[in-house]
Amino acid sequence: MHFVEALSTNICEVSIIKLQDIVAYQIYPRSFQDSNGDGIGDIPGITRRLDYLKELGINLLWITPMYRSPGCDNGYDISDYYAIDPVFGTMNDFDRLVSQAKARGIGIMMDMVLNHTSSQHHWFQEALKGKDNPYHDYYIWKTAPKGQLPNNWQSKFGGSVWEYVPDLDEYYLHLYGRAMPDLNWENPKVRTALFQVMRFWADKGIAGFRLDVINNLSKDQRFPNDTFATPQDDGRNFYTDGPRIHEFLREINREVLAPYGLISVGELSSTTIENTNLYTNPARQELSMGFTFHHMKVDYPNGQKWALGMNDLPTLKRIISNWQVGTMNGGGHLALFWTNHDQPRALARFMNDDVYRDQSAQALAIIEFGLRGVPFVYQGEEIAMKDAYFTSIDRYQDAESRNAYAGLLQDGKSAAEALAILQQKSRENARLPMQWDDTANHGFSSHTPWLIPEHDDQHTVARASACPASTLAFYQELIHLRHSNDTLKSGRFELLDPADGEVFAYRRESDSEILLVVANFTQQVLSRRLPKGTYHTIIANYKKTSLTGDVLTLQPYEALILRTSK
Ligand code: NOJ
Repeated sequence: MHFVEALSTNICEVSIIKLQDIVAYQIYPRSFQDSNGDGIGDIPGITRRLDYLKELGINLLWITPMYRSPGCDNGYDISDYYAIDPVFGTMNDFDRLVSQAKARGIGIMMDMVLNHTSSQHHWFQEALKGKDNPYHDYYIWKTAPKGQLPNNWQSKFGGSVWEYVPDLDEYYLHLYGRAMPDLNWENPKVRTALFQVMRFWADKGIAGFRLDVINNLSKDQRFPNDTFATPQDDGRNFYTDGPRIHEFLREINREVLAPYGLISVGELSSTTIENTNLYTNPARQELSMGFTFHHMKVDYPNGQKWALGMNDLPTLKRIISNWQVGTMNGGGHLALFWTNHDQPRALARFMNDDVYRDQSAQALAIIEFGLRGVPFVYQGEEIAMKDAYFTSIDRYQDAESRNAYAGLLQDGKSAAEALAILQQKSRENARLPMQWDDTANHGFSSHTPWLIPEHDDQHTVARASACPASTLAFYQELIHLRHSNDTLKSGRFELLDPADGEVFAYRRESDSEILLVVANFTQQVLSRRLPKGTYHTIIANYKKTSLTGDVLTLQPYEALILRTSK
């Protein structure tokens, strides 16, 4: 039986789980739960916490890569697609995780990296042996006159995308780290080999794949220079949503996703609404849904990530609304999120992680879960975990953050200025170990964790579990509501008061009811007039709703969903 069917039979006795019925959770395995005392989270640790996840109410678990890897990019540099990295456990551990999760109605979604491998992968090691080697053409090679590069594209991790191999007098392309060479998707042998990899994992009964940087697979074969007119014109114009991408995705779907009935979520960086609809409209048979990132760039001044920036609420609302409406009308499907392992946590970024920490966490959750799409909770969001706020560059292990720091110093920033930018923008902020309880290392590990928190934080799962008003209890209630309300799952979306710079409010509508989702994004007490209707609260992060006539008074970071029938 296909996993999707098995999973849904378990949950609600229908034959195929619908996208709208999914609430997903993301695990960054290094930081979730260590079981063998080496300071690094692992698969048995995840299995141990399955009951916790079941109680939270989620039914899909995305786990970032656990394949064998030298770890230059924490697992996104795969050296063997067919092996579990010993740091995370064994293949038996993985099989047990899949079956234990399935027994609880939870599907496992593997993270699959099809754009690049590690330079340690035997395909690349063979490719280095010479132009006649059958694996040479598995990667993308170019030549250039002495002292020049094949083109001016910039790597996502800083510097050129081209790395010179003197023995071959050729450059290979790496959109990410230089230890992560890009695969040549023009070569049918590459595609066949990768489909075989995907089938191997599908045969294990997983529920689906999260497909890493999937819209970068097809490069413009002319490899032209980019203009650098804006920070975005850095080469990505020629590989984002590239010429053959839809053809490649339909092939993946036909060869692997459809035959196994797998759920798929594509990581779609710098894409457009039009392309997202093409990728995720079921009629096109490409992907089930997509992560898009435009709302994650509202605090990039002039498009620059590595600079201090402020959230601008009307801009954030406009972007979210455009994507909601655009995908609703185009039949596309979004994966919803505020944070992940590549983003600082949303709390400080959009709200307040200090005095109003729990109210803020709950308000963000209400806004996310109210939207049209599949909500993803990133580990720790459900206990309002904060950013790492490291005060020394030595604390950072992430290559992207360290490269950015070096670049900032080169551009003339002082060490203090560069650190302040990292504290706000580094993805390592969201990679601190989970805070389970008050024992050593917050119950994450008996050993010093691989990434050591600099500040002690009492927000733990154990404390939250003992408190009925905690953010954890709130998440459980919200997830339950999401599973039981059809308007949240599939109602129409409309943004209210786009220019309001303090309140985020929108409406979801079905044939039987209208829901108003409202959140105060400030620490002021605010009043807003509601549209016509008799409303009652179905969920809120404050005990009592203050509604007098049609005037709603909102406490700092108060958020709620109001219902009126039609
Ligand atoms: C996106 C992943 O989420 C990120 O962590 C990684 O660095 C890049 N892809 C490269 O694989």
